[in-house]
Amino acid sequence: MREHDVVIVGGGLAGCRAALEIKRLAPNTDVAVVAKTHPIRSHSVAAQGGIAATLKNVDPTDTWEAHAFDTVKGSDYLADQDAVAILTQEAPDVLIDLEHLGVLFSRLPDGRIAQRAFGGHSHNRTCYAADKTGHAILHELVNNLRHNGVHLYDEWYVMQLILEEGEAKGIVVYRIRDGSLDVIRAKAVMFATGGYGRVYNTTSNDYASTGDGLAMSAMAGIPLEDMEFVQFHPTGLYPVGVLISEAVRGEGAYLVNSEGERFMQRYAPSRMELAPRDITSRAITLEIRAGRGVKTDGSAGGPFVYLDLRHMGREKIMNRIPFAWEEAHRLLGIDAVVEKMPIRPTVHYCMGGIPVNTEGQVRRSFDSLVEGFFSAGECSCVSVHGANRLGSNSLLECVVYGRRTGRTIAQYVQGRKFPKINAELYLQEAQKRISDY
Ligand code: FUM
Repeated sequence: MREHDVVIVGGGLAGCRAALEIKRLAPNTDVAVVAKTHPIRSHSVAAQGGIAATLKNVDPTDTWEAHAFDTVKGSDYLADQDAVAILTQEAPDVLIDLEHLGVLFSRLPDGRIAQRAFGGHSHNRTCYAADKTGHAILHELVNNLRHNGVHLYDEWYVMQLILEEGEAKGIVVYRIRDGSLDVIRAKAVMFATGGYGRVYNTTSNDYASTGDGLAMSAMAGIPLEDMEFVQFHPTGLYPVGVLISEAVRGEGAYLVNSEGERFMQRYAPSRMELAPRDITSRAITLEIRAGRGVKTDGSAGGPFVYLDLRHMGREKIMNRIPFAWEEAHRLLGIDAVVEKMPIRPTVHYCMGGIPVNTEGQVRRSFDSLVEGFFSAGECSCVSVHGANRLGSNSLLECVVYGRRTGRTIAQYVQGRKFPKINAELYLQEAQKRISDY
């Protein structure tokens, strides 16, 4: 059996940010991150358009209250408003901290961090690194983990959460490279395992987004929250479903139907292409159902509509959203400078998950906690997104609530003893599961 003071399952943004915070506050704490891919290949790396924060670099009239209001309104008023207030108030501070870590954000001509428009946001507040924002942030965080001595178990698959007598005590792990099994016990276990978009046929999520953390929690008897709220991103590239960032519309692209009409006029005349995602995805679906979708030969009545960037011009496309152009070119052979992209909604984000309070502690019920168990990021539900997340609020949730959870854990493990585990029992069970499969 192995042991670490803290074991964090998941090497994406939330897990890495929590690990960094623990090492900053309690450098002698032994922290391990266990992930089934290498951390820099976790799904956070695929986040494109940006991260919201009221830095006021582009729009000095912006406020955290406006950000909070947009978030609650976008959530269909189902978000937890206290959790949203924390998210939006702490946003500028976590953003500047990321910059100090070395994240290369795109800049305004005067050198300050650039901010763009995004769906459902009333001000230009989305900070970005072209359309590779997740990549830029995660690479710096992982670098920083190395410098801080966090132990990385990459390509170790977690099979089970060990939860006994209401206390999380460790995990059962399967080493992908050689198929060996082990138990890791810990004073605190954190899940930051991402979403479950891969249970759907068409999704923007990577192959690893299979909801393992939620499944393990449910199997350990923890009820999950808001599982009915799954987000469809309006612009999945047809037919593959990979993400074409909302940043493309934030930078000025149009949605048009088979009649060449900017149909958002009918559904959200004031926000047009930058309405919240649920409204935009529904509008596209209604257009397709009404026969105003497009077929692959360009005629009407087909399964997709167009995203039209042509009026934006080559320079803006290549500077601001180069990855969107690359994707359409690589996957469909389309040159978006002169051709329209075929798109339709694709499963993108899971609003529900493991219930947590605003300190990242997992809740067993409305008023009781699970001892030693913490969670943050997409697999958790602190309920900042309600029924519909605004674009560029998910990276933000990962870093705000990853940091808060890291703080909680750093305190929690001080003076705490390692739990007792009968490792042999868990190893036999795991071996049997594999043999029976
Ligand atoms: O469209 C996007 O770039 C996605 C951003 C997000 O989901 O926050």
